[in-house]
Amino acid sequence: MSKDLISLDELMKLGQDAMDNAGNKHRPSMQEKDLQVATYQMPIHLKDSMQGKQYSILTYGCQMNEHDSEIMAGLLQEMGYTQASDVDEADFILFNTCAVRENAESKVWGEVGRLKPLKRLNPGMIIGICGCMAQEEPVRQRIQAKYPQVDIVFGTHNVHRLPELIEQAQQTKEAIFEVWEEAQPVLVENMPKARMEGTKAWVNIHYGCNKFCTYCIVPYTRGRERSRIPSDVVAEVEELAKTGFREITLLGQNVNDYGLDLKTVDFADLLEQVNRVDGIDRIRFTTSNPWNFTDKLIDTIAHSKNVCEHIHLPVQSGNNDVLKRMNRSHTREYYMELVDKIRSSIPDVALTTDIIVGFPGETEEQFLDTLDLLQRIRYDGAYTFIYSPRKGTPAAKWEDNITMEVKKDRLNRLMELQNQISLEKNLRLQGKVVEVLVEGVSKTNPDMLSGRTRTNKLVHFKGSEKRIGQLVMVEIADVQTWTLKGSLLEVKDAAPNR
Ligand code: SAH
Ligand code: SF4
Ligand code: F3S
Repeated sequence: MSKDLISLDELMKLGQDAMDNAGNKHRPSMQEKDLQVATYQMPIHLKDSMQGKQYSILTYGCQMNEHDSEIMAGLLQEMGYTQASDVDEADFILFNTCAVRENAESKVWGEVGRLKPLKRLNPGMIIGICGCMAQEEPVRQRIQAKYPQVDIVFGTHNVHRLPELIEQAQQTKEAIFEVWEEAQPVLVENMPKARMEGTKAWVNIHYGCNKFCTYCIVPYTRGRERSRIPSDVVAEVEELAKTGFREITLLGQNVNDYGLDLKTVDFADLLEQVNRVDGIDRIRFTTSNPWNFTDKLIDTIAHSKNVCEHIHLPVQSGNNDVLKRMNRSHTREYYMELVDKIRSSIPDVALTTDIIVGFPGETEEQFLDTLDLLQRIRYDGAYTFIYSPRKGTPAAKWEDNITMEVKKDRLNRLMELQNQISLEKNLRLQGKVVEVLVEGVSKTNPDMLSGRTRTNKLVHFKGSEKRIGQLVMVEIADVQTWTLKGSLLEVKDAAPNR
């Protein structure tokens, strides 16, 4: 597949146009244009220009944001910054924000507020806000009005501009706002990445979301869907394998829409290509939408040795009326049939989901349909959320008519049922031997190592730190709702590069 290459300067002009045309709704849709790719290169004068200075990035939100933070850390390190061990010691503090629910936003406001006195003590300090909140106009207005300590605000579409924005911030006292209203169909390749882990890595494959579920802010903060060129994805995965990574997670809001814009490749094809990369033992992906989860995709997952037996398949609700008002493209029946197909093709697959309770108008009966769906599907785990109205989304205009008391009660009932099911499912693993990719020392107990099964279950066990990065076999002895405990039996496959 050929790439249409453009320069970073041309990209900057497109971004500037997007800012100037923010209110113009008649721009051609992105799908009418061809994808263009720009190759990142840091201007020479910015390389190592910040030697001796320290940065700290605070990340909120999904894996996509975590990975964007790795890219921004890569840019900062190329500028000469090192990572501060404590936020208070940093010369540059960056908030990579999430807008998906109100509490995600409240945390950021609290933390940014806390920095006001720190900035007074250290006026040379630069504070930045980026990520999904920055894409929202009311957020930018609030920063302008109430948070004079903030120096730089940029969005999800111009992450690569961070070095120049820091340079500008040093030269001016005014806060700089550079948020591109919507990304052009342009991807910036070749950005440096300072990955947080050494064994597993995230790899972007698909940006944006075209689904417009009525509750969700993501399509507004991440723009329209764009797929990375498959050869760029495969090249990145090959590079990761060479540097010792053994597991990758392919990232997108709707990974199974991958390739719709490119037209010559789909997600199943990409999985197959990535599955052929030597040295990568485990391939995961998130998030896959129940819609467009094709038979071909199920078959590819079933037959690709390295693709793990875990699918995160957000259902959101078990009631068709609620699903319709959420603008989810699936019905309860379609979803259950899909789960049957997945389970019959991929034995022992683990399924997890996302559920929202208290969506406007959700009745007790409709909520009971969700509990019933949980009983029937029996997920391995579920992320459960109280509906949070997001300004600018269709649902936010509907009356949020369910009291917080009822919402909390539904959430508790849902969690109680799911915890019981998760525990029952985990109990089936007691006494079994499972393959674990060792990720590191346990975050909760320094005497234990932790890693995950292919089905994404967290396992703790005792062992030497030299097991980190290795595939080992662990016998499960003790089972809890969220974790498994076991003992190391043998090393299955020591890492090639360690
Ligand atoms: N692209 C993914 C979801 C990304 S957002 C998908 O469609 O599956 C992660 C989860 O946050 C969603 O699945 C949903 O359960 C939850 N969520 C999104 N908007 C929300 C809102 N306004 N209130 C509460 N939960 C929300
Ligand atoms: Fe949000 Fe729906 Fe897109 Fe997921 S598919 S990111 S829930 S709009
Ligand atoms: Fe949050 Fe943006 Fe991810 S809103 S969930 S950080 S795409």
